[in-house]
Amino acid sequence: MEQVKAQDLKRIAGIAAADATVESGMRIGMGTGSTARFAIHRIAERIAAGELTGIAVVASSSQAAEECYAVGLSVLALEDPRIGGELDLVIDGADEVDTAGRVTKGGGAALLREKVMAYAASQVAIVVTRDKHVPDLGLTFPVPVEVVPFAAYTVRVALERYGFSVTTRTGSGKMGPLVTDNGNVILDVVFGEPQDVALLESELVEIPGVVEVGLFTRRTFDFFTVEPDGSVALP
Ligand code: 5RP
Repeated sequence: MEQVKAQDLKRIAGIAAADATVESGMRIGMGTGSTARFAIHRIAERIAAGELTGIAVVASSSQAAEECYAVGLSVLALEDPRIGGELDLVIDGADEVDTAGRVTKGGGAALLREKVMAYAASQVAIVVTRDKHVPDLGLTFPVPVEVVPFAAYTVRVALERYGFSVTTRTGSGKMGPLVTDNGNVILDVVFGEPQDVALLESELVEIPGVVEVGLFTRRTFDFFTVEPDGSVALP
């Protein structure tokens, strides 16, 4: 079997989702990351080619907004009258996908806005490579927990009481903790053993100071998973 380069696999997944899901007139939430960016580029190409009209766009992060601006797409706020607080479609990446189709997100620290958009959308297309599919979430790739800075230490202690391994995510190009687009910090959590992730998604946000957790268990997704040979089965 021919192996396709990692970057090309991401491009294939992003293009497949942008071609299969986007229609004229849609309000689209643009995801964050190195795979979702290819969907942004493809949507812009389809608009430039006259295939799509009336597309309105919201970005899940400063990175996604920059990708949009770079290809000539204006970015609207969720409260813009052209969006009205609801989206027809989100196209986003993921860090892990379990066998029940639940996902971990936030490798790019954009989990809060990504979750707001995902739960405001009629359809969410997730673009991933095959290696993102795992039996259980949170055993290898950490689950991010976004926390207000004042509570970072108390939340860390609470998470460690579960028996989880907790690391404060650091920024690159700066000393100390990473600061999210929302002014918060990220605690990266590895579980150690399989968890009831649906319960954890609800439970962890109950800890005072936790803003959001990167487990997405309460909605369905359409997966565009690219195989190592470059093939994608459409959902
Ligand atoms: C950002 C995310 C990304 O979608 C996730 O980290 C996957 O990114 P990539 O496609 O670069 O692997 O959740 O917060």
